[in-house]
Amino acid sequence: MNKQTELAAFLDLGWQRLTRGVADRRAAARHPVFATVSPKGHPEARTVVLRGASRSDGTVEVHTDGGSDKITSLRANPHAQLMVWDEKPKLQIRLSTTVTIHQGADVADKWRSVPDGSRMAYGATPIPGTAIPTANAYQKLASHDWFAVMVCRIDSIELMQLTDPHRRAVFSAQNDWFGEWRVP
Ligand SMILES: Cc1cc2nc3c(=O)[nH]c(=O)nc-3n(C[C@H](O)[C@H](O)[C@H](O)COP(=O)(O)O)c2cc1C
Repeated sequence: MNKQTELAAFLDLGWQRLTRGVADRRAAARHPVFATVSPKGHPEARTVVLRGASRSDGTVEVHTDGGSDKITSLRANPHAQLMVWDEKPKLQIRLSTTVTIHQGADVADKWRSVPDGSRMAYGATPIPGTAIPTANAYQKLASHDWFAVMVCRIDSIELMQLTDPHRRAVFSAQNDWFGEWRVP
């Protein structure tokens, strides 16, 4: 295989594993780590559910509570990284992204397709992260008003695979997704 074909096949593998996460609850890519930078410049990583992945748009989608700290962080710094460790192909996927936040009428269609049981993830009183006197001293609102869709435009994809020998490559949107091998 020539160099570009091998890189293209590697990127195909990355997208295959990523898109599987949207449909398959047991896929590793179902639960990426989503990392942002706080307004004070501190790293913040947390698990999320991958709700969408579009290779043609170069985006992935995550849903959240509009009152959560990650929204405050993204308003100050729209860059987020998503990371997946997919054990079966021994593949780490890192997506460097720029995030836009969509709420209200803009996401009414998506809200309609959120199952009743999942709606409680959106909206809480007091707002998420508030200190409370006991574990149960809060109410969930299940509210469209607090439903936030984060569309993460992928700036670059880094794949790292623990094959023998290990291999690592970076693909950037700016470079039309042509890849570049990197020392692992
Ligand atoms: C398996 C799992 C899936 C989760 N999925 C989401 C999700 O899709 N969206 C989300 O905002 N938080 C999700 N969370 C909760 C986050 O990890 C985090 O605790 C919460 O969003 C608050 O983060 P923040 O205060 O840094 O904004 C999930 C947690 C777990 C353990």
